[in-house]
Amino acid sequence: MRIPCAYANWKMNKTLFEALDFVYKFVPGLFSEIKEGSIGVTIFPPAPFIWPMRQELGESSPIFIGAQNIHAEKEGAFTGELSGSIIRSAGATHVLIGHSERRNIFGEDNAMIAKKLGRALRDRIIPILCVGENLRERESGKAKEIVEEQLAMAWEGQEVTGGALIAYEPVWAIGTGKNAEPKDAQAMAEFVRDWVARYFTPETAGTMRILYGGSVSPENISNYAKLPDIDCALVGGASLDTKAFLEIAKAIAKAGPGGAV
Ligand code: 13P
Repeated sequence: MRIPCAYANWKMNKTLFEALDFVYKFVPGLFSEIKEGSIGVTIFPPAPFIWPMRQELGESSPIFIGAQNIHAEKEGAFTGELSGSIIRSAGATHVLIGHSERRNIFGEDNAMIAKKLGRALRDRIIPILCVGENLRERESGKAKEIVEEQLAMAWEGQEVTGGALIAYEPVWAIGTGKNAEPKDAQAMAEFVRDWVARYFTPETAGTMRILYGGSVSPENISNYAKLPDIDCALVGGASLDTKAFLEIAKAIAKAGPGGAV
């Protein structure tokens, strides 16, 4: 069974005080209405907050903390970068790889993303591989081709998924308030799952969780949570607000995996 999930990508936002305040309010709010185990929640804060947030949550908390980035190399002279062992020892169990902001603003190409994915797999950190087309690619009918290339290049030479999740985030929907049509998001999620079935096995595809990301809000989450191939959401802007992210998480938990209540 695929446990539905709500993942919060805070990007470069919040102070340490605000991050801890979020934890303080979010956790009791979440489990006041839904059962523990009915949803997986991972928060991806700025890296210096990984350890303090992990401490604030406590060891037994069902909420995970993830990193927004990882360096491809194991260690070494890479000023300002974070290795797998650094983020893992700080308490991160998950890492975002291939986010469109990393691809577009920081110039990470598919080859670099493949190296980062390999690093996460070797360092036993659960990768969330982000894929998605830009507006030009969608309008020219190339969305699936682009996503397939991103998937194939990321996993080239890798034989395991490492419990990976795949996030479909159309670039034109990120931070713009423009959502993908639910039928288009479902078609792409199904396409991604089919690719996983072909590249790995149908069993792997059946258990892999696929997220939708791009202007998810409390108002529109139910349109995605009910889709058969979308299990989770990767939320940017709306995850900064405790109340909004709580509403999103609860709606996902209630919809169940792939929308099956
Ligand atoms: P928004 O929810 O702000 O569109 O951001 C989505 C995103 O980039 C999550 O990784």
